[in-house]
Amino acid sequence: MICLLNFTPIKADLLERYGGVAPKMAEEAHLLAIDQVVQDALDKANITEEDLSAVAVTIGPGLSLCLRVGVSKARKLAGTHILPIVGVHHMEAHALVARLVQRDLQFPFMALLISGGHNLLILARDLGHYIQLGTTIDDAIGEAYDKTAKWLGLDMKKSGGPAVEELAREGDENSIKFKVPMKQHKDCNFSYAGLKTQVRLAIESKKIDAATPVASASVEDRRARADIAASFQRVAVLHLEEKCKRAINWAFKIEPSIKHLVLSGGVACNQYVRSRLNTIAEQNRLQLVCPPPSLCTDNGVMIAWTGIEHFRMGRYDPPPPACEPADAMLDLRPRWPLGEEYAEGRSEARSLKTARVHPSLTSQIQASIHCHRQPGHFAPWTKPISAVPSPKREEQRRSGRTVRQSPSPDGGRKPLRWSRLPELPSRSLLEDDCRCSSGEDAVNLEVVGSRRKVVEIHSRRRRWLRFHLKSGATNIECFHSKLL
Ligand code: KG4
Ligand code: ZN
Repeated sequence: MICLLNFTPIKADLLERYGGVAPKMAEEAHLLAIDQVVQDALDKANITEEDLSAVAVTIGPGLSLCLRVGVSKARKLAGTHILPIVGVHHMEAHALVARLVQRDLQFPFMALLISGGHNLLILARDLGHYIQLGTTIDDAIGEAYDKTAKWLGLDMKKSGGPAVEELAREGDENSIKFKVPMKQHKDCNFSYAGLKTQVRLAIESKKIDAATPVASASVEDRRARADIAASFQRVAVLHLEEKCKRAINWAFKIEPSIKHLVLSGGVACNQYVRSRLNTIAEQNRLQLVCPPPSLCTDNGVMIAWTGIEHFRMGRYDPPPPACEPADAMLDLRPRWPLGEEYAEGRSEARSLKTARVHPSLTSQIQASIHCHRQPGHFAPWTKPISAVPSPKREEQRRSGRTVRQSPSPDGGRKPLRWSRLPELPSRSLLEDDCRCSSGEDAVNLEVVGSRRKVVEIHSRRRRWLRFHLKSGATNIECFHSKLL
């Protein structure tokens, strides 16, 4: 089981109160909520921290102050319970959650990911292997929806997008002729900054006062606001449609076998967006896969699911130290591309956001796969292991009901077979005297032949233990593969 972290209510609350997300306030709100959010997720799943088998957490992209809160909590949890940890890419999670809702969704597929901070068109070739066909050169579509809502004096309780969508239903979408962005660019990139300015000017010219909530506006005033909302939405989505059509053509050239177009991210909750993109998908003989709204907006399930996908492939980091200092350097990736830019898609309008701190997720995974093929090379993400079914899950599966975990009949002293020691620096280390640093008296470690690299452990309840090899090598982790 992977822990779920869900911050959606915090973001909506900040948007409502301040009309945006100020980093310092966002950090404070995260700090105040994090423990309760995790506890609620565990309660909802009817489990405790002891039942977890791994922890997944978003490490980027995003505001580093907020990422830090989540990552610190996740590391504390993983360190305390000696659990592996999976660092997740936020946008990959938006795409992969579609594979949770539609289990036959196989790679390769195309995805349009639209949220408050990102507009991405990607070709997902495999798990962790993405080609970026298009991105935004300034603002994302969600940001344009949020600002439009704020300037129109709409209720931001559920963020700006839903409010604009609702009001747009009353308006005439052809009443204002906003210009479709980037018509002259034959690429798949997006730009919403110009459309935002067009909307602001239209609002000013109609003398709409955002201080008067739309609920108390006169009939004509409300009508004018609805026309702007509808006209904005038509052009904002037309921009998505045009770029998506071109991206599908490019994707077919690279992967002629694609069958699905995934539409995800907060803006994908919008019914108008869904229906327009469905038409584009059908025209290209693709099936549109759109997760339900609760899984399109930021949510913990998508992070947990992406964690599971990588965990199954053996891509995870070993448990962090139990007592990590509060000011420890954390691996946060505020700017972290998902994949490399498609050569044909290099924008003539250069992105303002090209200053990247980290290599893309795709290049990192490809490098780790390559490294692993080199003899004697140790990479933190190693060979696949099979996930161990937790005794509780097994019990639930058999009985078909949710129960609290009961102690095993032997008092929890089940012997565990651990296999796959990580690649060790040298064979002689294995022959050294080993001692267990976990402090558990019921532990008994036995190295069964240095060549086979198999150890047997008897532990009271833990499935993860940390060892010191006397020779001075630092912690070496042992991963289990099956219960005896
Ligand atoms: O993916 P998300 O929850 O968070 C980010 O990663 O940014 O997306 C949030 C964005 C917000 O800008 C919000 O206004 C927008 O998704 N959104 C919508 C709708 N629901 C949420 N935009 C348009 N129509 C909606 N129904
Ligand atoms: Zn998101």
